[in-house]
This record gives sequence, C-alpha cells and structure tokens, in this order.
Amino acid sequence: MQKRPRVVVSMGASVDGKVALTRDALLMHQPSSFLWESMTPPAADPVPIDIIEVLRQQYGCNAILEGSGSLVAEDETPEQLPTYDGDTAGLYQHFLPPDITGQPSPPHMWFTVVDSRGRVRWTEKHPNWDALVLVARSTPADYLGYLRREGICYLVVGEERVDLARGIAALGTELGIRCVLSTAGGGLNGAMLRAGLIDELHLTLAPALIGGLGTPSVMDGPPLAVGEAPTRLQLLSVHTDTGGSVRLHYAVVRHRQVA
Ligand SMILES: NC(=O)c1ccc[n+]([C@@H]2O[C@H](COP(=O)([O-])OP(=O)(O)OC[C@H]3O[C@@H](n4cnc5c(N)ncnc54)[C@H](OP(=O)(O)O)[C@@H]3O)[C@@H](O)[C@H]2O)c1
Repeated sequence: MQKRPRVVVSMGASVDGKVALTRDALLMHQPSSFLWESMTPPAADPVPIDIIEVLRQQYGCNAILEGSGSLVAEDETPEQLPTYDGDTAGLYQHFLPPDITGQPSPPHMWFTVVDSRGRVRWTEKHPNWDALVLVARSTPADYLGYLRREGICYLVVGEERVDLARGIAALGTELGIRCVLSTAGGGLNGAMLRAGLIDELHLTLAPALIGGLGTPSVMDGPPLAVGEAPTRLQLLSVHTDTGGSVRLHYAVVRHRQVA
C-alpha cells in the first residue's frame, strides 16, 4: 500500500496560542493583517522563514493545504453561482484535467483547499500554482459545475464533508504528492490532529498575548474525551531572535513510540 503523504503544519501564533485576533476577522484582511504583523518587532538577527523554501527544499513538499475558513469568513455570503443544469452524475467524480496534472513538479505546486460547502471563489491565478479543492458528495452541484468551468481541479473525498484521511491519501495516489504543508487555521489543523494526520509542526510564537475565549487557536476542532491522552511531541529545534519571537519545530510522537 502506498504511504500517505507526509503532513507538516506551519503556523504563527501569539504566546497564548491564538492564530487570529478574533473569530470574526480573517488575518488576510485589514486591519487584522497590520495588527498581526505589528505583534512581531523587527529583530536585529531575524531568522526569516520562507514557507515556500521550507516546502520545496527542506521537505520536497509540492502542496500547501488551507481550509475554507482562512479564505472566507464564516459570516460572509459568497457570491451566488449559476444553477448547474447539466447531468450531475458525472460531477461527483474527481476532476483532474491532464494538461494541469501533467505539469512537472518542481516547479509546479498545488494550493489545496478543503471546502465541502463550496464557499471559495477563485479569482486569482499564479504562475506554477494550481488550485486543488477537496470536496464531498454533499458539495453543491452548482459549485462543482463552477470549478469545472473555471478549469479548477477537485477530488471528491467524503460523504457529508471531506474525509481528511481519504483526502490526504488521494493527494498521494491521484497526484503523486509526497508532502503537504498545512498553513491552515486551527479548525482544519485540529481536525487533522484528531485524524492522526499531522507528522510535524513548525510554530512561530510572536511576543504578544491576544486572549479571548473562542479566538482561533493553533489546534481547535473537537475536544479530547475524558481520559484521552494529548498528542505527544518531540522537540527538534528552537530558534529565538532578539525581537522576542521563538520558532519551534516538533515531530509528532506516534503512540507506539511512547515509552
Ligand atoms: N496564524 C496563522 O498561521 C493562521 C493560519 C491560517 C489561518 N489563520 C486564521 O485562522 C482563522 C481561520 O481558522 P478556522 O479554524 O476558522 O478555519 P480553517 O482552519 O480554515 O478551518 C475550517 C476548514 O476546516 C474544515 N474542517 C473542520 N473540521 C473538519 C472535519 N472534522 N472534517 C473535515 N473538514 C473539517 C472545514 O470544512 P468545511 O469545508 O466542511 O467547512 C473548513 O474548510 C482565520 O482568522 C485565519 O485568518 C491563521
């Protein structure tokens, strides 16, 4: 059986583990982006982390993973799509046009997004990057019709919502992806954690506190059951800078490795 792709998570957080300033505002929108950036003072000896370089060089990853929650706020109503009036049966099969999937990697990269509700609208294109949407059988036909019209690849992996284990495995079997870098928020990463899909974590802590019950954190998703053990980590490296940021790199300890 083919090994599933390795999953490496990379996140920035405040010292109290928050990955956003509030649940109601995405970090990519102002004023949140500015406020988030300003949590990290300029350091005299910065250790810049270039996610793409981590992807390509350190791990040989050729896919990034995001959740729809990082691109569309929960209270946002996405632009309405035209009704799909064709035969829907064929829609619920993977859409992987060979002219897109056949591109050599590197340099080609996948921007993969979990979106079972069909909320993300794709308006930007970047050289050497293609979007890849993980959807489910519950995803509206209008959305799958839209993805096909736009020539955006998708994998149908799950019934009510995306089955993350199936989705990650399909990245390997369908597209030959060996390593996925998740830059998602706490909702998707928390679900990936519960599904036992995370192999490594890069966490950059900014010298700031955010607080707030319900503010997105490094790992959200379902809580542990009473008596269920936390996921153990092995520290691989620590970098600090004079600005006060700390960069932590951990490997997830699999149960059989625990002494
Ligand atoms: N500091 C950082 O490094 C960083 C990085 C990324 C994002 N953020 C911030 O974090 C916030 C977004 O975080 P979020 O947690 O709301 O969004 P998120 O991480 O995008 O999580 C929501 C996504 O995860 C999927 N999901 C959640 N549980 C699932 C499960 N059990 N099975 C399958 N799929 C599941 C959802 O699926 P559906 O498609 O079914 O809804 C949705 O696509 C934003 O403010 C963003 O700006 C910060």
